Amino acid sequence: MHEQIKNINTLEELQALYTATYGKNGTMTARLRDMKNLDNDARAALNTENATLRELFKTRQAEIENAVLMAGLQKQKLDMSLNPEPENRGTLHPLTQSLSEISAILESFGYTMHTGPEIEDDWHNFTALNTPLHHPARDMQDSFFLENGNVLRTQTSAIQIRAMESESVPIKMFGIGSTYRKEMDATHSPMFHQIEGLYIDKNITMSDLIADVRAFLSRYFGIDNIELRIRPSYFPFTDPSIEIDLKWQGGKWLEIMGAGMVHPNVLRNCGVNPDEYQGFAFGFGWDRLAMLKYGLNDIRQFYDSDVRWLNKAGF
Ligand code: PHE
Repeated sequence: MHEQIKNINTLEELQALYTATYGKNGTMTARLRDMKNLDNDARAALNTENATLRELFKTRQAEIENAVLMAGLQKQKLDMSLNPEPENRGTLHPLTQSLSEISAILESFGYTMHTGPEIEDDWHNFTALNTPLHHPARDMQDSFFLENGNVLRTQTSAIQIRAMESESVPIKMFGIGSTYRKEMDATHSPMFHQIEGLYIDKNITMSDLIADVRAFLSRYFGIDNIELRIRPSYFPFTDPSIEIDLKWQGGKWLEIMGAGMVHPNVLRNCGVNPDEYQGFAFGFGWDRLAMLKYGLNDIRQFYDSDVRWLNKAGF
């Protein structure tokens, strides 16, 4: 019996044997019931055996319960020798990365970063920027208008107006943000990004503009002897207006930005006296600068949210 108990491995079997021993019709129950007929020695022996058996059942029960517990724990155990999942670290989106480079350069030149609302009113996006009613940007074909006459900002130039309205001159700022136009192909997206610089002070000239743009492009692209081409252009909010091209690898000229001396009407619209203060503004496509730097040819890739592309591109 002792050996039998020790060899049992499940609680069910142990329970069955216990019942067969100590149950109503159990062998021990019968013997204990009969105890009154035994002599003293036999009685003492039965008592000892009874105590031993009970102890054996109890011990075996604890052992089996412990074994079941251990087996469960064993199953849950972490196998530290297994190779971990490959580490999947994110990278900064190339636009985010180029913004941090661009803003670091402009900030080192003393420009401070500004933002503004993406839904603009007519005043900040057009009127204050000296943009006449017949200008194509005001056309429903070119811009996204809301029913209340507001517009999805077509240019970050709106941010210069807000900056001049909220701060006094002299002012040296750059505005960053999303801009919207109705166009879509490999180099145009209906939503894109612009960055805009503005510097208003006394005695600011076109050569200050070109010097800052040259230093900026040279730092951003890491080209020492950068070659620029300045072409006359037209923007309602600058006079004179220019476009700045950059000589790229293979001697190709790339159009990089629009710029000019801030139009006196724009200064007046923002409460700045043009006889006392002048300045320049320049604006460029942030996406375009990132595409050039990373050798990309389709602007739409920036907005596809394709993690495989981001991982592969390795910016
Ligand atoms: N806002 C102009 C554009 O979107 C760029 C520009 C900015 C031109 C500042 C001159 C001065 O094309």
